[in-house]
This record gives sequence, C-alpha cells and structure tokens, in this order.
Amino acid sequence: MNKRSTLRAFAAAATTLGFGLVGPPTHAADTEPIKIGLILPMTGQQATTGRQVEAAVKLYLAQNGGLIAGRKVEVILKDDATVPDTTRRLAQELVVNDKVVALAGFGITPAAMATAPIATQSKTPMVVMAAATSAITEASPFVVRTSFTLPQASVSIAEWAAKNKIKKVVTLVSDYAPGIDAERFFADRITLNGGSVLEKLRTPLRSPDFAPVLQKVRDASPDALFVFLPSGQGAAFMKQFAERGLDKAGIRLIGTGDITDDDQLNDMGDVALGVVTSHHYSAAHKSPANQKFVEAFKKANNGMRPNFMAVGGYDGMRVIMDALKATKGVGGEALLAAMKGQIFESPRGPVYIDAQTRDIVQDIYIRKVERVGGELQNVEFDKQVAVKDPGKTK
Ligand code: PHB
Repeated sequence: MNKRSTLRAFAAAATTLGFGLVGPPTHAADTEPIKIGLILPMTGQQATTGRQVEAAVKLYLAQNGGLIAGRKVEVILKDDATVPDTTRRLAQELVVNDKVVALAGFGITPAAMATAPIATQSKTPMVVMAAATSAITEASPFVVRTSFTLPQASVSIAEWAAKNKIKKVVTLVSDYAPGIDAERFFADRITLNGGSVLEKLRTPLRSPDFAPVLQKVRDASPDALFVFLPSGQGAAFMKQFAERGLDKAGIRLIGTGDITDDDQLNDMGDVALGVVTSHHYSAAHKSPANQKFVEAFKKANNGMRPNFMAVGGYDGMRVIMDALKATKGVGGEALLAAMKGQIFESPRGPVYIDAQTRDIVQDIYIRKVERVGGELQNVEFDKQVAVKDPGKTK
C-alpha cells in the first residue's frame, strides 16, 4: 500500500468505526496487523469447499476491509489437505507462532473436532464456516458457527416429505458424524409423522462406491430415497442414480441441499430436475442482498457460482470483522463475546448467532431443482423461519 492509499483506508476505517482520526496515519502502518488463521481443505477430497470458502472470505474483505483500530487485517490461509491431524497442527502453529486472534474455516467435522481443544486451551474464537455436525459447537465454548447443522436441514425435509405422500423411505448417508446426524433426525421426524424407514444405508466418506447401495434401494422400492452426502459428492451420486435407472423407477430423490450443491448443480443434467431438498442457502435465493452477493462472487471468480459453503465463509468473515470492530482488535473472550448475539441479513436471509449455543439460527428453505434461464437452480418454494439447531441437548 502506498502512503496515499494507506491514508484513504485509514480515513475510511475511522469513519465506519465512528471515531475521528486520532493520530498521524503513519502510526497505522507501523502497528502489527490483526491476524486471522483460515484453515481449509484446498487440496484433497473436499477441495471444492476450500475453493468456495476462500473466494467468499476474499470477497468479504475486498468489500469491507480496511483498518481496525488503525491496524491492517491479515488472513493467513493454510491448506489442511482434508486431513484432521494437519488441521490441528496448523491451528496450533497459527495460535502460537502467528498469534492469530481467531481461527476460521474447517471443511469437515473431523477437522473442527480435532481443533476444538486448541481453541479452548488458547481461548481463541474458532469460527466454523463449513462443517455441520450438531455437536461441534459443544466441543469448545470458543466455537461459533456460520454454516448450518444437519439436524436443521434434515428435520425440514422430513416434514415436507410427510406432507407430500411420502410414506416409505430409505435413507442413504455418508458414514461419519454429519451423516449420522442427518440419518437420525430425518428418520425420527418422518417416523413421528407416520412414515416408515425401510432401510438405513451408509457409504464411506472417502472414495464412496454408490453401486451396491443403489441396488439395495432398488430392491427396497421405497416412495423416496433421502440422501446426505458432503459437498462435492452430489454429481457422482446423481450420475450413478441415473445410470441405474432409479430416476425412472418411480423412486423420488430427496435430501439435504448438499446433494444439489450450487457449485456442481449445473453439470448434473436432467437427473437432478425435480429433486427436492432442504437447505439454508440457494444461489437463486430472491433478495437484493443475495443478488448483489452472487454477482460480485461470480465477477471475482471467473463466473463460479457461490454455494452454501461460500455463504458460510462470507458470513463468518463478517462475524469476525464486526466483532473485531467492537473490541478494537482485541481477541480472546472479549472477541468471543462480541460474536455472540450478532444479528444481520445474510445473502441466505435473516440470521443470528444464538448467544447461548453460539450456533447460527436461520430460515430453512424447501427447494426444487428447475431449469431457469438455461441453468439448473435450487428454486425455493417454502420455508421454515428462524430454525434453531434441533440437535442441541440443552
Ligand atoms: C461436515 O463434515 O461437517 C460436512 C461436510 C460437507 C457438508 C456438510 C457437512 O456438505
């Protein structure tokens, strides 16, 4: 930054923060930056999540960056390659060596769980932007979440299914914590509403092969198949679903919105048409705030469409920046306190961070895949308002 732009940034920051210029701007340049550690799977199986979240964090900073209490904000990006032991080691280094005021990112639940003890021991707020197992916020009092929870999404689609003549179902989930959450909350709610679960199928997180489970689905012949798979696996699943003719066999496909991920949806083809899912974000969400977000995101990223991971990253960055403004750059418990209870309009709709659970409370939408203007979109047609995570025990 040259001197003039430093001056401009300083003046802009001073205006946003509501206090006047307090000293010569050269002091600002001398001070240590405020550092945020962003750990994401930039390589490995969940690399699409890393790419989306990183792009969103960058966009938020480009739109809302500037100095906080005269200090620059610096995001240090680390690639955990989708390996939880690496996530934990990187978090440790970021806290000890780089003295970050917050940790952020976390593409999968095991990565978040492995890091939670470090957040607790070092009293560093840890903003989970992607991972979505209910229990993550209970793993450390320093965890704040801006993504969603699988119970939030799964209960809503179970309610919709029960009202839409779906009685007999088979569930298919990825065999790890978020999948177990999805299976349990979907099955419990549909059973409560008079439906029955014929079979509960699971596929491994790493390199899943859908052929054997899809054969079982065909044999069970349910009214609908409910699916949760982590972001990035949806397209491969849809392909095999169609190849095995299940789309023509009268078995409806429903699930959480992870399977009709906006990142991949356009490449899924006709098999995805008509699939009904529930989720907290669709790139097709109709609001001026979302339209602005989608346009800016695409412009900055060669036309890439933001998915639900991107919105978790964008809002997570907002929560961190607003909290830092409130504490004037101070971290620890003060920063955590400033994150709790934040309420704002996200591209996904109105949200707030529950001060008790530190989890996000948001609308959950029921959506159907439709072709709109030549593109496949998750078109929202119903919603449940201000859904708290049903997975919380307290
Ligand atoms: C998770 O590991 O918590 C996770 C990953 C991808 C998703 C949802 C949950 O789409």
